[in-house]
Amino acid sequence: MADIEQDRPRPVVLEARGIHKSFGGVEVLHGVDVELRRGTVHAIIGENGAGKSTLMKILAGAYQQDAGRIMLEGREIRMKKPIQALHAGIVMIHQELNLAPHLTAAENLFLGREPLLIPPLPILDRKRVFEESRRLAEEHGFRFDTSEKISNLSVAQAQLVEILKAIARGGKVLIMDEPTSSLSGGEVEDLLRTVIELKRKNVSILYISHRIEEIFCVADEVTVLRDGRKVFHSAVSETNEANLVRQMVGRDLEDFYPEKKRAAGRPMLKVESLSSEGGFEGVSFEVRSGEIVGISGLVGAGRTEVAETIFGARPATGGRMLLEGGEIRPRSPRDAIRMGIGLATEDRKRTGLFLPLSLIANITAANVPAMTAGGVVMRRGRQARTAKALINDLSVRCRGPRDPARSLSGGNQQKVVLAKWLCCDSKVLILDEPTRGIDVGAKVEIYKLMERLAEEGRAILVVSSELPELLGITDRILVMRRGRLVAELESARTNEEEVMGYAALVGQTAVHASATP
Ligand SMILES: Nc1ncnc2c1ncn2[C@@H]1O[C@H](COP(=O)(O)OP(=O)(O)OP(=O)(O)O)[C@@H](O)[C@H]1O
Ligand SMILES: [Mg+2]
Repeated sequence: MADIEQDRPRPVVLEARGIHKSFGGVEVLHGVDVELRRGTVHAIIGENGAGKSTLMKILAGAYQQDAGRIMLEGREIRMKKPIQALHAGIVMIHQELNLAPHLTAAENLFLGREPLLIPPLPILDRKRVFEESRRLAEEHGFRFDTSEKISNLSVAQAQLVEILKAIARGGKVLIMDEPTSSLSGGEVEDLLRTVIELKRKNVSILYISHRIEEIFCVADEVTVLRDGRKVFHSAVSETNEANLVRQMVGRDLEDFYPEKKRAAGRPMLKVESLSSEGGFEGVSFEVRSGEIVGISGLVGAGRTEVAETIFGARPATGGRMLLEGGEIRPRSPRDAIRMGIGLATEDRKRTGLFLPLSLIANITAANVPAMTAGGVVMRRGRQARTAKALINDLSVRCRGPRDPARSLSGGNQQKVVLAKWLCCDSKVLILDEPTRGIDVGAKVEIYKLMERLAEEGRAILVVSSELPELLGITDRILVMRRGRLVAELESARTNEEEVMGYAALVGQTAVHASATP
């Protein structure tokens, strides 16, 4: 879908030259250049910790570069605060959305520049707020009710409100940092369509994603960052997926999924007609030791709720759970952990990590018995050794195990969440979207690790929206739809179409990655 005219290149809107940035004396960007052309999408890709988000935050005025220049439409701009970028027309769509949850979508769109009934009297012209926001939404083909509160919208819809807000404020340059990482299936397609639509309206977009197929769907140009340096730049039409992976990781990736050498042993986890009101109903399945079982389904199908219920974070309102044949009723995560059940959650900011604390503290947090003497005295040496080993195993990019979790890049934080659960000897390990935001190279490492854990005899349950991943690493796939288990498929004997068919009932019309050779 690359549409840069060969003979008449589009004008450069935003240009960064020689951007340097250090944190605490460590340089993470070593003089990066990037150019964004009007009405195009420029994808920025690279491994976890490569410097993508840092570069974007500099362009959006959230961080300041130590050296280097930023030019907007040919004129150098100096930004000390995001508001200055905003005034210049550069808007970053954050992963953690910047919306007021208790206000309606319409009110959010006009936040800070509300139309007044009789200026200067501070009386809001509510009618205008709602009419104009409806018009805006319609004009951009957004299908949601702008009089709905943000808290009642899905993540995908809230994200659209944020994008609309950016355009309504005259945004010329949009910066999207992993916009699809918390969306699934149809929502991703909607977002990609929106991006293509914005491009047609001459909005220029910097787009970060770890899903390479998206780049071939929406981007015109691609830049690869590695260790804070630009190592590759090309028109999307002149490269391919294998090449981009090689540029990112620095080598060819063979054997993406590990070879399965394990055999299923005795039943570890069994759930019988398990229900949790408002989440799911009558779910039955079994996971044996040495098995990796996947749960597939659309967002809202009840997958995360099943995981939370087994982990004691959500009450079961019917049915039974058995661990190694004995009935269990975990009433809290603490209960579940004690019984030998671990859950690496998908939402690392809310429930996974203590951001101000060190990596050591985070990684060893769920394994109190092994890390203390008598549950009281901390065994510092053991904590540090365990943490270091896992940081190594998962190639977490950090300065050292005493770094605060906050200082890590998004993908590296996700690896720490995983490390925390790998540190416990859980018999049953539940992983909810374990590779969300993780780069391709690190994914391979995580798959290997899961394979190794299963070989050791643990039972692993994986919730994932990435079908190729589920098909590649699991033995069986459970498909959920609207709170019910609708199919159980053998991974080696099924395919994406079949799983999607069960998950969605209606066939999805996919926006396919067209340019991948
Ligand atoms: N506030 C900070 N303090 C200290 N170090 C930081 C800070 N923010 C980022 N870094 C470091 O800068 C480097 C680049 O991080 P950045 O978040 O830009 O990576 P990224 O390419 O966006 O990675 P990911 O794909 O994981 O999101 C990392 O080594 C990270 O640890
Ligand atoms: Mg990032």
